[in-house]
Amino acid sequence: MVPDLAKLQEHYAVAPSDISLADINLEHVPRHISIIMDGNGRWARAQGLDRSQGHKAGVACLKEIITSCVRLGVDVLSAYAFSTENWRRPQHEVDLLMQLFAHTLVKELHLFTEENVKLVFLGDLTVLPKKTRETFELGLERTKNNTGMILALAVNYGSRAELTRATRLIAQEVAAGSLDIEKIDETVLSNYLYTASLPDPELLIRTSGELRISNFLLWQLAYTEFYVTDTFWPDFDRWELARALVSFQTRDRRFGGVKS
Ligand code: IPE
Ligand code: IPE
Ligand code: MG
Repeated sequence: MVPDLAKLQEHYAVAPSDISLADINLEHVPRHISIIMDGNGRWARAQGLDRSQGHKAGVACLKEIITSCVRLGVDVLSAYAFSTENWRRPQHEVDLLMQLFAHTLVKELHLFTEENVKLVFLGDLTVLPKKTRETFELGLERTKNNTGMILALAVNYGSRAELTRATRLIAQEVAAGSLDIEKIDETVLSNYLYTASLPDPELLIRTSGELRISNFLLWQLAYTEFYVTDTFWPDFDRWELARALVSFQTRDRRFGGVKS
């Protein structure tokens, strides 16, 4: 998407000493940025707060990053909000997260309208609490005709579950005689993933220093550039995003070929 330069400059007006908007090549911004938003709990602990405060601060941070990505002309921002493994957390934390998702979505729907953002979800929503699922459906409905950036929120998402589901759906088609086994290729498989209509991420950001994927987009990240920062998610702001972009822009992406 072509960024609105005036709005972009305004958004990035107050620069820290080490970086400015001029350091980003606007012709070479990733189409799809993916983020593992990690470190809410550790951020809270470092401030003497409880984990719930970390999650609340994390939401505010996502809001800023959505706006930054819109300003930069990113086509797709995907964000890992709740994994299939996060159900293992204490029930009160799971409940809090589900309520926070529902509450935030209703409160911030106007932002999606103002910024022309289309919301999609990655993951199985059928098992979410009713209220959370209903607000997600409202979000989908209200934003379905928006033509700007796509925000793909991964909720109850796990890559292994996604690939298992795709395998089952493909097997059903084959059993029904509507898909020929010989026709199954990488494109067909991609079309059965939650990310079917999205390009693969070019940049994956993980906050809070962990060097792992935690079951996120295993298939889609095949050739994605990784950027890991020690910053906890609630402290990740538009300038941290800018630093990730500058790092991305120095990478030599070879896709298995030789240096160009
Ligand atoms: C990420 O922060 C948010 C979710 C996984 C929902 P964490 O809650 O994982 O924070 P840490 O990793 O414990 O610091
Ligand atoms: C990954 O973070 C999941 C999300 C950010 C939603 P976790 O905190 O759950 O990952 P692990 O447990 O450190 O691998
Ligand atoms: Mg974590």
